[in-house]
Amino acid sequence: MSTDALGGDSPVGGGGGGGAVDPHDLTTLSSASTSADAGRDMDTTFGPTNPSPGVAGSGASSTSWPPPHPHIPTAVVASTADEAGDVPPQSRGPPRQKGGFTASLSLQRIPETHWEDLSGLELLGQGSGTSLFIATLAGEKVVVKTPKDGLSPKQIEAVTLELQHEARMLFSLSHPNIAQLKGHGNVYLPHNVFVYFIVVEHLAGGTLASATPGLSRRRGRRVHPDSLEAMHSLCSALAYLQHEASMDYVIIHRDLKPDNIGFTADGTLKLFDFGLSTSMPRPTEDQVRFGLTGVTGSIRYMAPEVALGQFYTHTADVYSFALVCWEIVHGKKPFAGMDSRVHRDVVCRQQSRPDYERHCPKPMQELIAQCWAPDPDARPPFIDILARLTAIMETSDQRKDASSSTIVRRLTGLLSRG
Ligand SMILES: Nc1ncnc2c1ncn2[C@@H]1O[C@H](COP(=O)(O)OP(=O)(O)OP(=O)(O)O)[C@@H](O)[C@H]1O
Ligand SMILES: [Mg+2]
Repeated sequence: MSTDALGGDSPVGGGGGGGAVDPHDLTTLSSASTSADAGRDMDTTFGPTNPSPGVAGSGASSTSWPPPHPHIPTAVVASTADEAGDVPPQSRGPPRQKGGFTASLSLQRIPETHWEDLSGLELLGQGSGTSLFIATLAGEKVVVKTPKDGLSPKQIEAVTLELQHEARMLFSLSHPNIAQLKGHGNVYLPHNVFVYFIVVEHLAGGTLASATPGLSRRRGRRVHPDSLEAMHSLCSALAYLQHEASMDYVIIHRDLKPDNIGFTADGTLKLFDFGLSTSMPRPTEDQVRFGLTGVTGSIRYMAPEVALGQFYTHTADVYSFALVCWEIVHGKKPFAGMDSRVHRDVVCRQQSRPDYERHCPKPMQELIAQCWAPDPDARPPFIDILARLTAIMETSDQRKDASSSTIVRRLTGLLSRG
C-alpha cells in the first residue's frame, strides 16, 4: 500500500442505508463514519475491518509463526482468546438482512471447507481487519481469510459478518474476472470457540497495485495492449455486477482500487475483496434519484458524492473505475501527495482531476473524463464503457497492423532496391 498522505488506501467501512433497501446491514455494524471523517488523517481509517488505533492490534502478538497447532494459526487463537466460551459466529445468526441481492441466501448453502483439509498454511499478509493465509486445498493453492489478531470481541463479530457477507456475495457471482469462492467454515478452538474463515482462489500473479508501473509502459506513444486488456477485463466484471448478476439489483463493489484487483498465474484479471460491496434495487426509468449514503471505501478512489456523505448509487464505482484506468495508463497514483483535507476541497468540491500524459489517446481521455464526471448521473453505464473500450482496443490493433505493414512495406522496398 502507498505511503503518501492519501496513502491510507485501506477502506473506510460503513455506509449504506440511505433511501434504499439496506443491502447487508454492515452499515449498522460499522463505526459510523460521517463525511467529517474525510477531513481527518487519511491513514486513520474506520469501520469494522479498520478499527481505530489503540483498539485493534493492541492484543497478543500477531506475527508469531509457525502456529502451535499444525493447522491453527496463532493469530486466530490470539484473536479469540477473550472470546473463550463464546458461541460460534455462525450460530449468532447471519448478518441482519433487510433485503438485497444475497438476502435470501443461507450460509448453509455455501459448500463448507474443513480446516483440517487446508494444508501448508503460511501467512500471506493482513488486511485492515483480516489475516490472510496461503494454503493448499485439494491440491490447489487457495487464500484463507479470517478475522485478525488483536481485535475486540465486537470487532471480531463485525469482521466475521463482513466475511460472511463476502462469502454470500462471491458464492452468488459467477464471472471469469471475479475471484472464485472455494468454501468457508469455522476453525474449532478450545473452550468451544469457533473462528469463521473464507477460502478464495489464490491469485498468484499479484495485485494491480504492484503491476501498474509495468502496465503503464508504452508502445511507442500509445497505451500498451496489456493495459487496455486489464481495463477491459475489469470493466467486464463491473458490467456484470451492474447489468447481469441480478434482474432486481445492481451490485456496487464500493472499494474499487488496485489493491483489490489481482491476477491469476496465467495473467487473468480478477476483482476481489467484496467485503464492502452492496446492492441496491435496480432503478427504473421513472425513478429520478435514490441511493445510499455513508463514507465507504478508500478516499483516493472514492467518488466525491460518497466522500461528501451525499446520496450515491452504482455510478460511484464508475468514478473509481476511471481513477483505476488513469493509474493503469500513467503508472502512478492519482492525487499523490494530497491529504484528505486537500482532496476534499480540490477534488470533491472544486472538481479537479488528474492530468493526462500525451500517450493517453484522446478517446481514452474522453472516456475517463466522462467516468469521473462530477455529476454522478452523467457517468456512463459499464455496458457502454465496455463497448467503447472494445472500440479503442480494435483501433489500437488496427494501428498496430498498419504500422507493422508500413514496416513490411519499408523493408520490402529496401530489399527490392537492394
Ligand atoms: N485471493 C488472493 N490471492 C492473492 N492475494 C490476495 C488474495 N486476496 C487478498 N490478497 C492480498 O491480501 C490483501 C488484503 O486482502 P483483502 O483486500 O481481501 O482483505 P481486506 O481485509 O478486505 O483488506 P483491506 O481492508 O486492506 O482492503 C490484498 O490487497 C492482496 O494483496
Ligand atoms: Mg482489500
